Amino acid sequence: MAKTLFLLPGDGIGPEAMGEVRKIIAYMNEELAADFVLDEGLVGGAAYDAHGAAISEEDMAKAMQADAVLFGAVGGPKWDAVPYDVRPEAGLLRLRKDMQLFANLRPAICYPALASASSLKPELVEGLDILIVRELTGGVYFGEPKEIIDLGNGQKRGIDTQIYDTYEIERIAGVAFELARTRKNTVCSMEKRNVMKSGVLWNQVVTETHKRSYSDVKLEHMLADAGGMQLVRQPKQFDVIVTDNLFGDMLSDVAAMLTGSLGMLPSASLGAPDARTGKRKALYEPVHGSAPDIAGKGIANPIAMIASFAMCLRYSFDMVKEADSLEKAIADVLDQGIRTSDIMAEGARQVGTVEMGDTILKT
Ligand code: NAI
Ligand code: MG
Repeated sequence: MAKTLFLLPGDGIGPEAMGEVRKIIAYMNEELAADFVLDEGLVGGAAYDAHGAAISEEDMAKAMQADAVLFGAVGGPKWDAVPYDVRPEAGLLRLRKDMQLFANLRPAICYPALASASSLKPELVEGLDILIVRELTGGVYFGEPKEIIDLGNGQKRGIDTQIYDTYEIERIAGVAFELARTRKNTVCSMEKRNVMKSGVLWNQVVTETHKRSYSDVKLEHMLADAGGMQLVRQPKQFDVIVTDNLFGDMLSDVAAMLTGSLGMLPSASLGAPDARTGKRKALYEPVHGSAPDIAGKGIANPIAMIASFAMCLRYSFDMVKEADSLEKAIADVLDQGIRTSDIMAEGARQVGTVEMGDTILKT
């Protein structure tokens, strides 16, 4: 059956990185009869320039229909002064909201060849393979009330509200347990139950979900601050980490720095399974932004985008073998000492975006 992919390359280095994924898809269609059907739209500044919105209704509808969305990056100084509700980031936020992408998957994989680029000692991170599952549509970033009020005595009060309902915790925990089963079968849930009511509930609901449906998976609980400490002390103790929106934002950035460069990090955002087909809506994107400082120079590292496509193969199409072989090609190319400028090392050979993509494809 045809697999529909909707490509939103976006701005800056987004289209450059997406070009390398497009080559891999063309190869898979020709050589492996993979049957990917591509469509492409505009998002971010590119969409604003074309239609005055960060994504058009027509492209939104296509994203909702597709089996998976591949997203590049949005933004750049050109659009710094555009109105708030049509700024480039609004395109990504709209996609997350309308597709109800509540589960953000951020792997932190340390390729052996890059272990020395980590902020930690190489032996602590070599072979690291963690998956952080962050709740993305709830918690303190969205809870109401959310405001700054004037107290009238020269003082103001900033208010954000952390709210989690049972169903939100159940569904993110379910994603984490399911993913753990395809990995080392271990989940560590992180919250702050010692000081937060939402943390108490989080802990209870994760524990109950585990008992009810996933008791074959090993479950641990950790306070999120201790978790941050353990992430930099002994990161290889973790397999899957599940946590809320705020802690997940911070912990995934910490984990990112264990692995080397921003140009290496993929991500996936998943929605609930469709009631009829059982398929989850999904958007795959590199963690990095549009990198205006290097855009147009042909030097961007396409690995984060390519690794995001590998996640797409794995999670949206169950093409585990193909995902493994694409990830192995990335590791092999790094082993051969082929590097883009952001991960350049002594004795390595420096290549641009296109040559990096070609070399991965050939490997
Ligand atoms: P950035 O991720 O675009 O760049 C940070 C630094 O990392 C830059 O020096 C850049 O050259 C380097 N870098 C990033 N990706 C790279 C790659 N693939 N290869 C080589 N080097 C790479 O973050 P920054 O500079 O804070 O933001 C730039 C623009 O991107 C802003 O407009 C920001 O709003 C937007 N942005 C968009 C995101 C998205 O589309 N999801 C995420 C983060 C930022
Ligand atoms: Mg962040």
